[in-house]
Amino acid sequence: MISYVVTTAHSAGYTESEKAHRLAGALRVPFVPRDDRSMAEITHEHAVDGVLVVSRHRTSLFVSDQEFFFHPGMAALRIKALLAGKTDQMVKAMDLQEGDRVLDCTLGLASDATVAAHVAGNRGAVIGLEVVPAIAALVRAGMAEARPKDALLAAAIRRVKVVEVDYRDYLCSLSAKSFDVVYFDPMFRSGVVRSSNMGPMRVLADPSPVSRETLAVAGRVAAKAVVVKERRGSPEFARLGLSEQGGGRYASVAYGILRTEGGYP
Ligand SMILES: C[S@@+](CC[C@H](N)C(=O)[O-])C[C@H]1O[C@@H](n2cnc3c(N)ncnc32)[C@H](O)[C@@H]1O
Repeated sequence: MISYVVTTAHSAGYTESEKAHRLAGALRVPFVPRDDRSMAEITHEHAVDGVLVVSRHRTSLFVSDQEFFFHPGMAALRIKALLAGKTDQMVKAMDLQEGDRVLDCTLGLASDATVAAHVAGNRGAVIGLEVVPAIAALVRAGMAEARPKDALLAAAIRRVKVVEVDYRDYLCSLSAKSFDVVYFDPMFRSGVVRSSNMGPMRVLADPSPVSRETLAVAGRVAAKAVVVKERRGSPEFARLGLSEQGGGRYASVAYGILRTEGGYP
């Protein structure tokens, strides 16, 4: 776990200060006034790894000179491609339909959850679980702050419900078949930095692998399928007893699918 403090941008007014105070309280980390100091000065003075900065339009965490924030760009491109009739490998692996209830156990930056919320639509539901409080707070704040021009993207973002919790605890609290699809996108065991905004994820995110026990619990919760995303060719698929599908010849990722329709095996 990294250590950090909360502050505001240089130009912040009363609203941003209030918001930064509230966020610091919720995250139980100190709020420090900006006082014209640079990020490096604050990091040094408070002996922390990062600084969470609240500005008028964005809430970001700066770690090792990298900025980490919610950005719907990748989801926007994928939704655009879907609308143009292209195949999205995650949607295909999930066999996702309008009206489906999706439990995204590894929310991260919420790209996958946003795409799922677009396909599931108004009649569906997407809940995203995130165990790292700073990531959950950033994504929650970022989703509330996001003002995309595209109405369909804006609607999809609004539909994702963020819950800060360990998926192992959450899954155990659910009754059988309470979601259609349960999805895992764990931090890859190695390699593949997937976007420039994923860099800080390496230091921030929980890197625990999905266990076979968790997969069994997820299998009872999912009415249709459990889907696990991993690096293409990853030994994780064999460890979890999942056959590797999708991805395509040039893709860096693939999906392990456990179909549960008709009952968990
Ligand atoms: C690779 S990222 C997911 C990226 C995401 N699919 C996206 O589209 O941005 C994995 C995320 O799962 C979170 N995570 C790992 N273990 C978890 C757990 N037990 N419960 C909830 N979240 C967890 C990590 O902290 C990290 O943010």
